[in-house]
Amino acid sequence: MPLPVILDCDPGHDDAFTIMLAAAHPAVELLAITTVAGNATIEKTTLNARRICTVAGIEGVPVSAGLGRPLCGTGLVAGNIHGESGLDGPGFGEPTVPLDPRDAVTLIRETLLAHPVPVTLVPTGPLSNVAAFLLAHPALAAERVERIVLMGGYTGRGNRTPAAEFNIAADPEAADIVFSSGLPVTMIGLNVSHQVPATADVLDRLDALGTPLARLCAELLTFFGTTYREVFGLTAPPLHDPLTVAHLVAPGLVTLVRAPVAVELTGTHTRGATVVDLDGVTGRPANADVGIGVDAPAYWDLIIEAVRTLGSAR
Ligand code: BDR
Ligand code: CA
Repeated sequence: MPLPVILDCDPGHDDAFTIMLAAAHPAVELLAITTVAGNATIEKTTLNARRICTVAGIEGVPVSAGLGRPLCGTGLVAGNIHGESGLDGPGFGEPTVPLDPRDAVTLIRETLLAHPVPVTLVPTGPLSNVAAFLLAHPALAAERVERIVLMGGYTGRGNRTPAAEFNIAADPEAADIVFSSGLPVTMIGLNVSHQVPATADVLDRLDALGTPLARLCAELLTFFGTTYREVFGLTAPPLHDPLTVAHLVAPGLVTLVRAPVAVELTGTHTRGATVVDLDGVTGRPANADVGIGVDAPAYWDLIIEAVRTLGSAR
């Protein structure tokens, strides 16, 4: 039985690959895609999700828009990394995949109620929608959410600030609600994603596929690589978000440890930090499985295979 998944995302270059991996891999049943403001405004991330579904031939998966701002305060966008559109690089035509009229919380709720077994939530953007759902429907979440596997945070240093990773920095209160929810949470953060840079070898493998979708994917990674070089001085961009789905389809691919994770809400310079007690010095109970390592070659095989599968079905 494939694993039923709802993907909550803010496409975003690496979110785009997460959509493709979740749709292409036979071990996943992608039930719904919800969008959140993050890498760009909610209008843009929603349009981008529909664009990716359209170019990748992903049909029959409802796409709905969620929150356009964090639970508290004003939002962030990451135009310096993902460009003005949130998905700069390739050109896109008008998407043919429609927008589901339900809001994200309603779509998550109705999808959970309609599915016969508990569902895994995979957030790859700020956690605003997921937290709003948990606040609105705690009993349903306890019964029908199998696990939350998120990309966000880190065990070392941040990227939005020295202390905070973007997805957590964009909505720290939402992240705190998720980590405090009592639900099983898996956190895969920057300390893992920086072990999977999209190097020239990855671009060569995409080129070798020779399909229009593979070319579009190479253009996405090329743009992503340019901004990562300019902003962070990295030679290749980390492909953060698909690690979530890769972990689900290939257990063991990401190495995990159980640990207490707290989200800093009040620090003057550290708001949005994920404080991960790897050494157990706080005595706090563990509330998450935290990624610490990854089998990078196996990861890239999954990504390339997803692009190959979707591209050859077009
Ligand atoms: C996270 O921030 C976004 O820019 C990426 O899509 C990813 O989800 C990495 O910090
Ligand atoms: Ca993202």
